[in-house]
Amino acid sequence: MEKEPIIEARNLKQHFRISDSYTVRAVDGVSFGIARGEVFGLVGETGCGKSTVARALAGIYKPTEGQVLYESVPVSGKQASREQRKKMQREIQTVFQDSAAALNPRMTVGQIIMEPLRIYHMCSEKADTQRKVVEMLGYVGLDATYLKKYPGELSGGQRQRTAIARSLISDPKMIIADEPIASMDISIQAQIVTLFQHLQQEHGFSMLFIAHDLSMVRFISDRIGVMLKGRLVEIAPTEELFENPIHPYTRSLLSAMHVPDPIYEKQRKVIDYDRSRELGSELVERREGHFVLQ
Ligand SMILES: Nc1ncnc2c1ncn2[C@@H]1O[C@H](COP(=O)(O)OP(=O)(O)OP(=O)(O)O)[C@@H](O)[C@H]1O
Ligand SMILES: [Mg+2]
Repeated sequence: MEKEPIIEARNLKQHFRISDSYTVRAVDGVSFGIARGEVFGLVGETGCGKSTVARALAGIYKPTEGQVLYESVPVSGKQASREQRKKMQREIQTVFQDSAAALNPRMTVGQIIMEPLRIYHMCSEKADTQRKVVEMLGYVGLDATYLKKYPGELSGGQRQRTAIARSLISDPKMIIADEPIASMDISIQAQIVTLFQHLQQEHGFSMLFIAHDLSMVRFISDRIGVMLKGRLVEIAPTEELFENPIHPYTRSLLSAMHVPDPIYEKQRKVIDYDRSRELGSELVERREGHFVLQ
């Protein structure tokens, strides 16, 4: 990568020991970085390890092996100083599929969005705080009339917007969005992805973006990583990946994608992927910025 990454996974392994004889290798040696201001999409079939990568980047897990570095400081473990840890908690924010459902039902939208300011000791004058909350509401397409409402009075889309406003108020540098649109109506999904794109362009934060809908990931990402069985099998700039997929798994994944073009849709051939294939051991740069596991 040309630019210095803001966050980086280095040979990250995240294994879960289920019993004495069984360990799930959810993430099994993944290396990639996200540059400042870059949106990195992560795709792959269910269970391939995307959410585990997201959680490891957010510092929720201690890696089994390897490390996650935020501005060159490990996000988990005891190496970071108190100050550094606080900075990371403030600057790395998450939006998950269930973020909307996890909002405290007894707090108003205003209180929910304001809460991080208190948690991170970013409180200033009351009037300032109020102004900031209204500003955040505006960013996510809600107005001041929502301040006094409770989550129970909102639609799913409005709740997710509230969760996004809450994660933005601490002025994060890195957003980890794991299926932030999964539980929503299709019509609202597009709105929320457009909102993320707009906010990202306005605020310039970096973002890890995970979604099942490949067209959404294509729309928002600068680069995309393709995961299979806990490994990254291909990384490339977005359009390069769609135009020249190289790894057989990526080719298969993209071939199964629906395209809103009836003529193309008719000719579309789904390419099979042979799952018994051994995965390679090294990411090799096959074209400029385009890496393939082989
Ligand atoms: N805390 C955990 N304990 C045990 N196994 C886990 C844990 N978290 C994830 N796994 C397992 O690790 C593998 C990867 O899971 P993960 O949730 O990261 O996949 P994913 O790519 O996000 O899938 P999906 O697209 O369905 O969200 C799965 O086999 C899952 O069952
Ligand atoms: Mg997941």
